[in-house]
Amino acid sequence: MASYKRVDGAALVTGSGSGMGRAVSVVLSVAGITRLYLTDLNRTGLEETKSTITSLNLPSPPTISLIPGDISSPAFISSLFSQIPQLDYAVNCAGIMGETALTTEATLEGFDKLNAVNYRGLWMCVKEELKLMLKNDITPYTGFTFSPSESQRRGQRGSIINIASQLGLVGKTQAAIYTATKAAVLSLTRSDAIDYSGPPHHIRINSVCPGVIETPLTMNSYEGTDGLEKAVGLTPMGRIGLPSEVADTVVWLCSGESSFVTGSGVVVDGGYVIH
Ligand SMILES: NC(=O)c1ccc[n+]([C@@H]2O[C@H](COP(=O)([O-])OP(=O)(O)OC[C@H]3O[C@@H](n4cnc5c(N)ncnc54)[C@H](O)[C@@H]3O)[C@@H](O)[C@H]2O)c1
Ligand SMILES: *[C@@H]1O[C@H](CO)[C@@H](O)[C@H](O)[C@H]1NC(C)=O
Repeated sequence: MASYKRVDGAALVTGSGSGMGRAVSVVLSVAGITRLYLTDLNRTGLEETKSTITSLNLPSPPTISLIPGDISSPAFISSLFSQIPQLDYAVNCAGIMGETALTTEATLEGFDKLNAVNYRGLWMCVKEELKLMLKNDITPYTGFTFSPSESQRRGQRGSIINIASQLGLVGKTQAAIYTATKAAVLSLTRSDAIDYSGPPHHIRINSVCPGVIETPLTMNSYEGTDGLEKAVGLTPMGRIGLPSEVADTVVWLCSGESSFVTGSGVVVDGGYVIH
């Protein structure tokens, strides 16, 4: 079979100035994306993501717009989406871990901050992403099919991926607020999938639940290597995951290769939750 672009068109990646958001942006570029909108609090991080993509010297690299800002701010959300005329894929990756604390010690400010970014901020993004994607025509599937009619039946107007966590499925000590924000992401994904996946909308929406992944978030939030070793010890595969392993799953969920997958929470955790 001839090779084909796994993704084509425009994508928005939030939290793309670091970790998994950066890896997703790079792998989308390798997979054929033509237009990238990258947003993050960290402007320097966004510039590093862009130079990583440029340094790959791809035959047809994407046109990249860097739009730094805070996705917990409604004013920034309207500014961000006023700069995006059309969108085929969106990956909502921006997120924070918050403070490690028992509920009796945790603060209301900490609670509000985590919810403002991980849940309310993500919801504001999803709302605008859906509105943009509803204006698209249905793109037929361009990969291998058994008959010509399959490409139409597998078509989509868009695909949204929300980065939740394995901690949206299971608990973790001193992380009740964080784990609850991730359960909220899984839940809103399921309900939106009911409303938007079928005719006439044809927008798939899925979550990804990464396990312990080697990113600055993990390296900064586990106090010393002891905590990290314990978390890796809960992982049957016995190692930390790579941002590229999550990115490959995200790109699959964007592409028509996953055309019958919607509302799911795809677990990419080396077995953490089965332990
Ligand atoms: N690393 C892990 O082990 C792990 C596991 C499960 C889930 N996750 C989730 O994956 C996502 C990405 O995490 P990561 O590990 O790549 O972390 P990271 O800290 O490397 O990247 C997160 C990015 O989000 C940005 N960000 C944070 N708050 C923001 C805001 N208000 N507005 C805009 N941007 C903001 C940060 O600047 C940062 O660049 C997060 O949602 C995280 O909760 C991470
Ligand atoms: C912002 O990104 C730069 C470049 O990737 C990184 O060195 C720096 O630590 C980041 N700053 C924060 C606050 O995360």
